[in-house]
Amino acid sequence: MPTINWLRKEFYYGYDSGDVLSVIPNWRRFNEERIIGGSYRNVFLKGAVPYLKPDSKVMELGPGRGSWSRAIMQNIPNGKLTTLDFQDVRQWLHPERYNMRMDNIQVTDNSFSAVPDHSFDFFWSFGVLCHNNLTDIKEILKNALPKMKKGAYAVHMYGDWEKLEQWGWKKGKVPAEFKNKPDDEIWWPRNNSKEMAAAAAAAGWDVVSPDLGLVKRDSIILLRAK
Ligand SMILES: C[S@@+](CC[C@H](N)C(=O)[O-])C[C@H]1O[C@@H](n2cnc3c(N)ncnc32)[C@H](O)[C@@H]1O
Repeated sequence: MPTINWLRKEFYYGYDSGDVLSVIPNWRRFNEERIIGGSYRNVFLKGAVPYLKPDSKVMELGPGRGSWSRAIMQNIPNGKLTTLDFQDVRQWLHPERYNMRMDNIQVTDNSFSAVPDHSFDFFWSFGVLCHNNLTDIKEILKNALPKMKKGAYAVHMYGDWEKLEQWGWKKGKVPAEFKNKPDDEIWWPRNNSKEMAAAAAAAGWDVVSPDLGLVKRDSIILLRAK
């Protein structure tokens, strides 16, 4: 299931996490936050804002309907956001509203060939790597690294089966029968902080922290481009 072929099609409707910056979450975000065990506003304030400057050039993987993209845009008034997604997200993100400061690229693979080398100060994703298996995550991290400026940071949420076990599969809304199925038949493939850190290091990143500890069900890795 979370093969690249499944992922290319699955989110055609445009996944939405609501307004991640509002102090009071809307109903959708409220429900997601209960499932994940954390506040999206807190995730953004601690996991993205410290790495953004007004003129940052940011790359985001898998924006969907752009919940996190809009929060990023608010924090880079003189910068630029480039998004890559299997879907054509322009219908939801409306790049025409941002005076050439947003570029939305529809991709078909994990090559990152559509973006120039050494161009980004920050690389962000949320709700994306948790659906990609470790082989694809390794490919993503390896191919994204040359696109970053030296010393640039990256922050990515990913699935962590060890935290999920602690938090609870039912509470985390991941079917427990996935435990008996291979990764290519489930939409929440196996991963944990040790495997993720090893994958990132093998791809050439400095692992600053395998998990920022911002949500209870999943992990959020902080990386730096050497
Ligand atoms: C669950 S949605 C999350 C959307 C948004 N980030 C959020 O949190 O609201 C995952 C999005 O990532 C995209 N996606 C998943 N894996 C991808 C990959 N390897 N390359 C490009 N886009 C990907 C999907 O098409 C989808 O739009």
